[in-house]
Amino acid sequence: MLPTLSAVCLSLAAISASLIHAATPSVLRIDANVIVARVSPLHAGLMTEEINHSFDGGVYAELLRDRALNGTLLPRANALGSWMLIGGTNGGSGMALDVSHPLSRAIPTSLRIDAASASLLNRVGVTNAGFWGIPVHPHTRYRVSFYGKAAGEFAGPLTVSLERADGSATFARTEVILSAGPWKEYEAILMTSDEACPTADARLVISTQQPGTFWLTLVSLFPPTWNDRPNGNRVDLMKKLAALRPKFLRFPGGGYLNYVDWKKTIGPLSDRPGVSNPWGYPSSQGMGYLEFLEWCEDLAMEPVLGVNAGYSGEDPREVVEAGPALQSFVQDALDQIEYATGDASTTWGAQRARDGHPAPFKLTYVEIGNEETDPAYDARFAQFYDAIKARYPGTQLIAAGQIKDTGSRPSEMDYRKSAQVKSRVPDALDEHFYQTAKDAFAAVGQFDDYDRRGPKIFVGEWATMEGPGPTPTLQAALGDAAWMIGMEHNSDLVIMQAYAPLLVNVNKGAFQWRTNLIGYDALNSYGSPSYYAQVMFNTHRGDEVLASSRHIAPDLFTSVTHESKTGTIYVKVVNASAMPQSVKIVIAGAAMIERQGKVIVLSGNPEDANSIQEPTKIVPVERPLRGTSAAFEHTFPQYSATVLELYSQKREQH
Ligand code: AHR
Repeated sequence: MLPTLSAVCLSLAAISASLIHAATPSVLRIDANVIVARVSPLHAGLMTEEINHSFDGGVYAELLRDRALNGTLLPRANALGSWMLIGGTNGGSGMALDVSHPLSRAIPTSLRIDAASASLLNRVGVTNAGFWGIPVHPHTRYRVSFYGKAAGEFAGPLTVSLERADGSATFARTEVILSAGPWKEYEAILMTSDEACPTADARLVISTQQPGTFWLTLVSLFPPTWNDRPNGNRVDLMKKLAALRPKFLRFPGGGYLNYVDWKKTIGPLSDRPGVSNPWGYPSSQGMGYLEFLEWCEDLAMEPVLGVNAGYSGEDPREVVEAGPALQSFVQDALDQIEYATGDASTTWGAQRARDGHPAPFKLTYVEIGNEETDPAYDARFAQFYDAIKARYPGTQLIAAGQIKDTGSRPSEMDYRKSAQVKSRVPDALDEHFYQTAKDAFAAVGQFDDYDRRGPKIFVGEWATMEGPGPTPTLQAALGDAAWMIGMEHNSDLVIMQAYAPLLVNVNKGAFQWRTNLIGYDALNSYGSPSYYAQVMFNTHRGDEVLASSRHIAPDLFTSVTHESKTGTIYVKVVNASAMPQSVKIVIAGAAMIERQGKVIVLSGNPEDANSIQEPTKIVPVERPLRGTSAAFEHTFPQYSATVLELYSQKREQH
């Protein structure tokens, strides 16, 4: 079929427009001898909190949901949580929550299973289908553990099996014999066969064919973890995080921070009560303070510790006033720093050693609270500041700064100032930016005019919010890339920055936030276009920001850095327009530029996003770039983020 006249005219218009762009290139001038800023060594990192099943059902590798029956933390939740009875319909059998045999103060509840109708033809037991399924992989070792207790002489045996969700196939099974007496911890290995096909359509079953009564609690199932850590992290997600080359981890929140009493998140799991969280589901706190620190250790990140700035655990919206009422919170923060950094002669350093990590951690950055809007924050910050600086003078203290939010809550607020911190000068201010792509492009110069004599800036949460979610579109990624260009160009001031939220379980009902960096279900995970923009930028960072012309064309955003050890120049360009844009790159002051460099491009349809079904729809493409020199032309595709890697010789040291 012949094209219509209007289609021909449109495509001619597009061709001539792109020819105009190609014919009159914008000019990006770079002076390789002029360093406008040193890139902060901690510039890009991660921010994490329990939201969207980031930990339980996310990076924390535990596969069972409601393992300690802490669904009871939420009054409206079904108290039995994810546990179901099987084989009980033949009469006499049943399952109930029981608080008359507490395992510990933290875990008072157990499951009582009355298997009166159990027989060789009728197994009776309980099932748990995990967080929207349990991932089964071939030739994989799963560690199952539980606390068990039997009535009278009942010894089971209990059969522990990993099965298809409808029970039609068994992937792995083992038997456990119960002993009489008090609670005892049992542990077993479930090994899948080489032939097992990967699936999340699976459940754990603990059952018996002998009549009797038994109790279970703290039932846990772990796949292999990153670095084989017991109680560790999910491997595919850690691999994706490692590829971001993060320099720090901000934890434990976010809004979640004020719900966490860190002293209840350390030690054996049987001493961790779990907690309700602001995002509407209970959290096991298996991901506790030591696990956060070990996560930092595993990815060579510095911890950025958020401490509770005075919110009572009972009602995390209620904050105590500065003065005597706040002192216990200040002491908790001091103890928390000691737990990370103290040696075995200190109370909390010794506790850390008992918990399995004798070596102290490096902890320099501590943030007081999160998104503080109450004017009384100033006095609370001062009280924390004085106590922490007196005991740990090297600590860098971060205050909660301004919040800009045009992305997630556009009708509610455009810009809101946080409480001003006036009484003390914080080492850094944590500013948060959730924006539309349009606002992110308009705000690329946000930090250009900040007073360099004031506190450093930590952009502890930022994201461009575009598209239906749960992970961003390419359009959002372009907003993010432009925003990162603005932060990188100002990285003498913006010492640290982190996208938020980092993780999202994409199952229906699992997430609460619209745009999140990395998506997953029980079996698979994927990076969003924003994730890939960050991988690209973080792996081509450099240590010096070079002088370069800025605002060279509308919808074109640029930043140029240099790696002083190698002489490599990184040119980052976002073309947010619907047209390819031709740019003449002119480099003064560099030793000869090699004729071949490299180009890495992220581009595509701005509305497109990645997903479990199409995890690599939008990914960066890398190729050699021929013809690079001290003055060469390059065309940046429409809707693209690009890194050019140019090789020059190392600068002479004077
Ligand atoms: O990142 C999601 C939430 O946004 C954080 O919990 C909070 O700090 C911010 O309002």
